[in-house]
Amino acid sequence: MEILASAYSVPATRIENDQLRQYMDTSDDWIKERTGIKARHVVTNQKNFDLAYDVAQQLLAKAQVAADQLDFIIVATMSPDYATPAEANRLQAALQADHAFAFNINVACAGFEYALHVADRLMTSPTVHQGIVIGSEVLSRLVDWHDRRTAVLFADGAGGVLINDQGFPVQAVDLKSFGDTEMALVAGEQTNHSPFAEAPSAKPSPFFKMNGRAVYQFAISEVPRSINRALTQAAVAVDDVDWYLLHQANARIVQSVTKKLKADPAKFPINIDEHGNTSAASVPTLLAQLAEDGRLQRGQRLVLSGFGGGLSVGSLIVTY
Ligand code: ACO
Repeated sequence: MEILASAYSVPATRIENDQLRQYMDTSDDWIKERTGIKARHVVTNQKNFDLAYDVAQQLLAKAQVAADQLDFIIVATMSPDYATPAEANRLQAALQADHAFAFNINVACAGFEYALHVADRLMTSPTVHQGIVIGSEVLSRLVDWHDRRTAVLFADGAGGVLINDQGFPVQAVDLKSFGDTEMALVAGEQTNHSPFAEAPSAKPSPFFKMNGRAVYQFAISEVPRSINRALTQAAVAVDDVDWYLLHQANARIVQSVTKKLKADPAKFPINIDEHGNTSAASVPTLLAQLAEDGRLQRGQRLVLSGFGGGLSVGSLIVTY
């Protein structure tokens, strides 16, 4: 798999921690200390599709690939505009990617890693050679903006890559699901408006509900395990990885994973300070930013690791 181009898109509206104080009892100090977040971007009138479309157009321009040369479009998202059509299908139409099949995938914050693995395997088919994988989220509409336990964390954005079946093979993949009976992280509960439906015992809520501590504990134990399994699979030493691109849920989670792996902290870039938690968009956004500012070099080895709702974790080792 070769990553021909990477790109990201964030909404123009930037909200600093202090601005949240008019909606909830919080402080810049608390948010910075406990999460590493200083600001986040949220949409005002853009939809999930708009962010994904911006990324897709940038990818085609950067890779100098025509839309009709794409064989697939995959969008990882937990915040689609519609149940159907998928963002991926709408991109296929808007880009006039006439030869591409398209679908969305939802593994919450691990969505990009799962989608990239699926794309890589699809390219073993003799008719599938190149396509786009995008993580795109509008989490601001899934947040109760008066709930300080979740509202300070989540944000909007999109990031993605254009890949083909050339280059180096993906060196390792570790995917693991922890079907969550305790529902430590819930969002987007649906209401049944059918005349046949019984009245629910509790009013369904579309908003995030999260046991922050449980998800934190999950992340700091399962992410290092997943990365270690991937490293063992590929027979790669911790120090032989150039960059560890971890889902940006909390800077303290990244620091804890770094320590547990006994890895060099300089290899764990952070962008949660400016972007908050953008779920499936966070890792491809980080990748695109690293590529853009020249830190990421061709031939370098990357660990991509996502984790979150499901609960789920997914780690890949790829060559840039
Ligand atoms: N501002 C001020 N005080 C707050 C805030 C806030 N925004 N939020 C919580 N507090 C208070 C709590 O009420 C609590 O007060 P109390 O002790 O009087 O009850 C105190 O701060 C400590 O709260 P904790 O929940 O224990 O704080 P913690 O240090 O665990 O940090 C956090 C909370 C940031 C949510 C952390 O647990 C975390 O990052 N968890 C992981 C979350 C995560 O990764 N989720 C996303 C997964 S990705 C996906 O799939 C979408």
